[in-house]
Amino acid sequence: MTSWLRRLVRTLGVDVVRFPPRVLPPALPPDLTAAERAIIARVAPFTMTSIERQVALARAVEHIVRAGIPGSIVECGVWRGGSSMVAALSLIEAGDATRDLFLYDTFEGMTAPTAADRTYDGTLASDLMARDAGASGVRAIASLADVRANMASTGYPASRVHCVAGPVEQTIPGQAPAGPIALLRLDTDWYESTAHELAYLFPLIAPGGVLILDDYGHWDGARRAVDEYFAAWPTRHLLQRIDYTGRLVVK
Ligand SMILES: C[S@@+](CC[C@H](N)C(=O)[O-])C[C@H]1O[C@@H](n2cnc3c(N)ncnc32)[C@H](O)[C@@H]1O
Repeated sequence: MTSWLRRLVRTLGVDVVRFPPRVLPPALPPDLTAAERAIIARVAPFTMTSIERQVALARAVEHIVRAGIPGSIVECGVWRGGSSMVAALSLIEAGDATRDLFLYDTFEGMTAPTAADRTYDGTLASDLMARDAGASGVRAIASLADVRANMASTGYPASRVHCVAGPVEQTIPGQAPAGPIALLRLDTDWYESTAHELAYLFPLIAPGGVLILDDYGHWDGARRAVDEYFAAWPTRHLLQRIDYTGRLVVK
């Protein structure tokens, strides 16, 4: 610091701090494999989820392949496709490019929230939506063409990737997968859509298959939909914590 600046700082009684030259990406957990590190780096621009949720998904894919759990991989709420890219790249890594991938989204962003949709601290989703001008925030707008291109970049056979456009309340069950689901990932944030997805898709998960919930800790409505759905089951399911919001259930 130059002497005149030092004098000014003393006179004004302020502190001068140096900003870091750039924001560093979060450190990766030490237990990740080289393949997982490569997948995480590759999908970074295309997903909103945390590294822990990406790794949980990659390992669930590896598990269903190793354990021979039959069926497709389904994601509801895909935004730019990053999580479905993790699934596709993990399938390729596991040597299984035979499974169908179903991607359900409006491909026009979030549907309207209801009063049930609040963050864990009580902020109304409708208020957040009103304040959000961008495409990558809570509105989560991404086009079908963008998602198709991102999925094609993984090298997973395009004939196995099925994008189903429209609100899930309209496309499911009419365009639900015909066969069993090995892995279901729910990420549409709101109470109504999460309740609808669970009602129609959880019964399609094969025994030993995996359900991943992205929004359980962050969105109160999604948590309520999950709690209400599982409260009606005679057996208790363990909702294994992935991070503050992600949960994983083995059927
Ligand atoms: C939080 S983003 C998904 C993030 C994504 N899974 C990722 O890996 O980054 C939520 C997505 O859900 C979609 N969505 C919200 N409500 C929906 C509904 N009722 N039906 C279909 N898609 C919906 C939005 O268009 C948006 O792409």
